[in-house]
Amino acid sequence: MENSSLPQDSVFLGFDSSTQSLKATVLDSNLNIVKSELVHFDSDLPHYKTKDGVYRDPSDNGRIVSPTLMWVEALDLVLQRLLKSGFDFGKIAAVSGSGQQHGSVYWKKGSSAILSSLDSGKPLVDQLGNAFSIKESPIWMDSSTTKQCREIEKAVGGPLELSELTGSRAYERFTGPQIRKIYQSQPEAYNDTERISLVSSFMASLFIGAYACIDHTDGSGMNLMDIKQKVWSEIALEATAPGLKEKVGKLAPAYDVAGHIASYFVDRYKFNKKCLVVQWSGDNPNSLAGLTLSIPGDLAISLGTSDTVFGIATDPQPRLEGHVLPNPVDTEGYMVMLCYKNGSLTREDIRNHCAEKSWEIFNKFLEQTPPLNDGKIGFYYKDHEILPPLPVGLHRYELQNFKGDSLEGVNEQEVQEFDPASEVRALIEGQFLSMRAHAERFGMPSPPKRIIATGGASANHSILNSVASIFGCDVYTVQRPDSASLGAALRAAHGWLCNKKGSFVPIACLYKDKLEKSAFSCKLSVSAGNQELTSKYALLMKKRMEIENHLVQKLGRW
Ligand code: XUL
Repeated sequence: MENSSLPQDSVFLGFDSSTQSLKATVLDSNLNIVKSELVHFDSDLPHYKTKDGVYRDPSDNGRIVSPTLMWVEALDLVLQRLLKSGFDFGKIAAVSGSGQQHGSVYWKKGSSAILSSLDSGKPLVDQLGNAFSIKESPIWMDSSTTKQCREIEKAVGGPLELSELTGSRAYERFTGPQIRKIYQSQPEAYNDTERISLVSSFMASLFIGAYACIDHTDGSGMNLMDIKQKVWSEIALEATAPGLKEKVGKLAPAYDVAGHIASYFVDRYKFNKKCLVVQWSGDNPNSLAGLTLSIPGDLAISLGTSDTVFGIATDPQPRLEGHVLPNPVDTEGYMVMLCYKNGSLTREDIRNHCAEKSWEIFNKFLEQTPPLNDGKIGFYYKDHEILPPLPVGLHRYELQNFKGDSLEGVNEQEVQEFDPASEVRALIEGQFLSMRAHAERFGMPSPPKRIIATGGASANHSILNSVASIFGCDVYTVQRPDSASLGAALRAAHGWLCNKKGSFVPIACLYKDKLEKSAFSCKLSVSAGNQELTSKYALLMKKRMEIENHLVQKLGRW
């Protein structure tokens, strides 16, 4: 395996178009970060009036969208900022990116002509104002499509059948149910749509000045793709909306080149016209690449706006919970994933209510309270949760007689509140106990060989301590918590290399011998520690799942 294959003087640009921001990271050929830049939607583009990058619509149960044009404007802004800082775009050999998964963009009939003739003298936002048949893109936080989920599952033969076919049962945020809702509620807009992109393929389309394919990995977040054959499933397409095959275009492997960079970017920012645009993919698949996960048994936990748990599997069995996706950096094998909606925004909410808006006090509370929280268990859903499918609400319980050695004689009692310190611990323990329980139920290895933590909250040592005790394994962290944009830059380099060789090459070729000294190195942060405590957590987890099941029976959407 040679690693000299990347040209020494070239750099690779990776983006992360996420819920709250657009981030750019540039890697050199030694895989070190040479530049990064960020546009924060709420504060840098305040005229869109988003909160956390989104509009929550209280009148339409669970509808959450983002203005499509905001993402367009953010792209010009982040590139302007890089330009102003003196960055030389001419050195970029390839660009790729991550998109928040599942979000969709609806291109109006005639827009491919606009896209292919962009005027480099004007910002993108001035030229694409009329290009979308739906101006507010449904995103992954949306939970307003329960009806469409059930209809699609029924048409395909049931939830398990849909999961076996597409890698997941129907989920509200998945693009198929979202498209069906638009087809049913806005048929004219649906008919006036010539192409539907995911956030990932949408951004790639801007870069190539033409409609980019949807990549296999992000495509599996739609409930529309046959996960084994990696082609659109006719039965799923039919169950979703008429004439859909034409609107979703073609699928492509993540390592394929989407096209050369459009002249708009060559003229406006002085990109080299040979610069390649490698297929963009979802943020979670690209994080898997950015964390250089390669062995089954490695588990990644990404703590961001959404919390996700993912790993690699060779022969996964799609079930009623969790998701199976193709591996973005391999031609074989799969990625398995769980996703939670109540991640960092909910942690911030509890911090604001209980810890004087201070992470320092939040962490002090976590350290002062005993592991197992004296049997106090909490469920905190600031937004409708995905896993389990429960509505907004808080539920707190105190276990009587819980010592951690048996569940015999242990009963729970619902209570209205906890003291602030216990509330903080109940939130954190609750989030990770739920991850462990669902990961085990989904068949992920238990205990994991190791956990690699990434995302904003992975910088919090007090939180990582709880992760290590609850899962009973070592917890590693990476140098930089933004693995989605780093992974995208790495995938840009991988796509460039595959293109040069004319066929797929294993991604490890890129980083062999370089990993330790690169932006991708990871270090042991917390050791597994006390196995007795992990066993006690197993009992608390069991009890928590019993309560969770009752809540789902009483309040759940399934
Ligand atoms: C994954 C999911 C979220 C988004 C966040 O299924 O919905 O993790 O990808 O950007």
